[in-house]
Amino acid sequence: MAKNVKEIRHLNRQIPPLAHTSMYVWHKYWSRKTWNVVAEYIKTYSKERDIILDPFVGSGITAMEALKNNRRVIVSDLNPIATEITRLTITPISEMKLFDAFKRVEKKVKDRINKLYLTRCRNCGEKFPLTCAIWEKNKCIEIRYKKCPKCDNSCRSKCSLDKHDKALLNKINKSRITSFYPTNKFYYSDGRPFMKKEQYESVDELFTKRNLQALAWLMEAINEEKSKLLRDFLKIGFSSMVHLCSNMNPISEGGHFTPFSSAWIQHSYWYPSGPHMEQNVWDKFDSAINGHQGLLKAKIESNKWFGDIRFAKNIEDVIHNKADIYIYNGSCLDLMSKLPDNSIDFIFTDPPYDSSIQYGELSYMWVSWLNAKDMFVDYLSSNEIINNKN
Ligand SMILES: C[S@@+](CC[C@H](N)C(=O)[O-])C[C@H]1O[C@@H](n2cnc3c(N)ncnc32)[C@H](O)[C@@H]1O
Ligand SMILES: [Zn+2]
Repeated sequence: MAKNVKEIRHLNRQIPPLAHTSMYVWHKYWSRKTWNVVAEYIKTYSKERDIILDPFVGSGITAMEALKNNRRVIVSDLNPIATEITRLTITPISEMKLFDAFKRVEKKVKDRINKLYLTRCRNCGEKFPLTCAIWEKNKCIEIRYKKCPKCDNSCRSKCSLDKHDKALLNKINKSRITSFYPTNKFYYSDGRPFMKKEQYESVDELFTKRNLQALAWLMEAINEEKSKLLRDFLKIGFSSMVHLCSNMNPISEGGHFTPFSSAWIQHSYWYPSGPHMEQNVWDKFDSAINGHQGLLKAKIESNKWFGDIRFAKNIEDVIHNKADIYIYNGSCLDLMSKLPDNSIDFIFTDPPYDSSIQYGELSYMWVSWLNAKDMFVDYLSSNEIINNKN
């Protein structure tokens, strides 16, 4: 039973937000709630072992805070990426096994991918992969590298392409990509265009040919991983960085000049009218797994909290205390129609607001790379509780 109303000291004060650590930020999601605020609500309005419900769980904050505070929890989200982020944040995995799986992928494709970015030091002529390149109107106009491994020379700006850089891009442009890459269209099945598609027609158009090739090889190597769980982790590691390898990264992030990195900050498939940054796919995957906000750091943290959490196969497992969490990928209306009366002690939720963020449309790039759901667009337009009519 939930707390008796008389026992409750209501939350009528401001809760200062605490910083999000790696287990909260390793994968991009929109309108992520501040973890300690959610935790305060759960602690104030429920007791240990109570059942918490979040029908719109997004990146999983309610699930994480409920479990951290010894509550049971039932959550749903329509978006397969949201429930996958939630599941894989909570699912324990040996850091060593995950690192070894990363190493297997590295052995297979790192050199092959890095050859797509080979450049020469402008000071000593040493060959090594560039960090990023600047493109404008489908033309590569500049290359940048952090540090030459031989002479430490750095190239931060105004470094135009030499004849080798141009020859490499020509070769890539003439080659054919034979591994899988998504070509899903930004249209609903009734012909309506996505509200947020801007000038793109399909997912592959979000990338330069070079990055599309690199990503296709990377995904192919990930798919060769034999363990399903490790493969799932590597795939979500891939989706945590794939947008950083797209054309949607402006050359100055929020007005700041960051010479070697950029990010997708718009709530749309941003189409660059001016220059944009093409980032090295291998570097981005490496930091998605091993970086300071990467998956390994996140798992080291989350394993401590969720090491013995029991996942439910159905709602009853949670209700009868045989499991701690049930995650449902689908419409919350389906989930809630199956909940027995009086089975929930406290609901914490944060539904979508009108048309402001098109969660489904914006996740489509990730969903199509991960091949997560064939009928995703139809499913979205009929179930997403959002305004997406133009
Ligand atoms: C505001 S976000 C939740 C963010 C979450 N509080 C967090 O901290 O990450 C709203 C979520 O509702 C989901 N959604 C929209 N329609 C839905 C439906 N019919 N059933 C379940 N989830 C839905 C969206 O996919 C989105 O993830
Ligand atoms: Zn050099």
